[in-house]
Amino acid sequence: MLLITCAQGLSEMLRAEVEALGFTVDSCHETGVEMTGNLYDAMKLNLHLRTAFNVLYLLDHFECRDADHLYHQVSKLPWEDIIPSNEYVCVVGRIDTPSIDNTMYPNLKIKDAIVDRILKKTGSRPDSGKERTHVVVQAYWKEDRCWIYLNTSGQKVSDRNYRKLPYSAPLRESLAAAIIMATGYDGSQPLVCPMCGSGTLAIEAALIATRRVPGLMRSNFAFMHTKLYDEAAWQQMRSEALKQNKKRGKAEFRPQRIIATDILPQAVESARRNAMTAGVDHLIEFSTCDFADTPIPEGGGIVVLNPEYGMRMGELEELKGTYARIGDFFKQRCTGYNAYIFTGNPQLAKKVGLQTCRRIPFFNGSIECRLLKYEIYAGTRKQYNDAPPAEVEKQDAPSE
Ligand SMILES: C[S@@+](CC[C@H](N)C(=O)[O-])C[C@H]1O[C@@H](n2cnc3c(N)ncnc32)[C@H](O)[C@@H]1O
Repeated sequence: MLLITCAQGLSEMLRAEVEALGFTVDSCHETGVEMTGNLYDAMKLNLHLRTAFNVLYLLDHFECRDADHLYHQVSKLPWEDIIPSNEYVCVVGRIDTPSIDNTMYPNLKIKDAIVDRILKKTGSRPDSGKERTHVVVQAYWKEDRCWIYLNTSGQKVSDRNYRKLPYSAPLRESLAAAIIMATGYDGSQPLVCPMCGSGTLAIEAALIATRRVPGLMRSNFAFMHTKLYDEAAWQQMRSEALKQNKKRGKAEFRPQRIIATDILPQAVESARRNAMTAGVDHLIEFSTCDFADTPIPEGGGIVVLNPEYGMRMGELEELKGTYARIGDFFKQRCTGYNAYIFTGNPQLAKKVGLQTCRRIPFFNGSIECRLLKYEIYAGTRKQYNDAPPAEVEKQDAPSE
């Protein structure tokens, strides 16, 4: 059994991605999906998924009364056949059981059970610690049941390895991919990303448009450090994915224009460098300017902004003016576009002064956010101008 985890609210998108790879999802939860699968399936999922966090392979589940019982049960697993004795293992866990108040303690018990067993069977034991760069064992202990997984990803699948230079408040790559997917973008229309920051939205869009396999950017996954790793099978999967990337990289698959701008030259520079690392810099036109001066291709497309929303950075008063200016920018310059704002601040969103046609819920970490969609039609410009902001706010309120 495989449990594929994701950020809160992304599981339906994750389900669609998993099904598009030809798998059947057995169940879908708030923060993940479950499917029947083996370690080869786990490798394929690690390579291809955009919206996932971790791919977990279930090793065992059992009734568990207390920490000693946990040690006893975990010791029964054949760890010497799973973890090389010269490896490094990290144990992480989520514990929600009345008998335990120190959540680190069960992780320690699991780690002891693993290394004691390997020492007994092989005469040497793996190192252990907090780094998720080698073997990762993950536990869920809820009330009297415990599940022990091999975390085949280690570091999150969403850490794609291209963002060497994150600029202020970057979106996690999986969230940026989900935002782009929610706009329906497929590369056949221009995509404009003002306020690009470190470029995550534009880079994820370029990867999606060219169907690049995201896992190819990473050389390390936790499954590679286990004894269960079939390197020949992994290389075969990678070379098939590389062939796909190469084919999609040809001129006939070139997406429509992708434009990314930011007011800060340092942000644009970091976005450009990150795009270079991701191998998509040739697909994105970067420039430094106020968002309102961003070049907008004729004929419609998608424009998506992720302005600051006053929780982590940015001054609220100043941001009110910025959000109002975003509304003017949409009205005056983005006719024929589907325009989107990703924000965690509904009060600021009201300052845009346009009526949303969709409000898609997301979470950015623990912050509840919305992807707000505005359809900008030529014929409705006057109506927008005439609509008093207060009325627009009232109309928007019930769907919030
Ligand atoms: C929340 S960050 C965007 C983060 C981005 N989505 C990422 O993943 O890196 C907001 C960005 O808006 C930019 N910004 C703020 N005011 C701007 C303006 N008037 N015109 C253009 N960019 C602006 C900031 O420099 C910052 O990079």
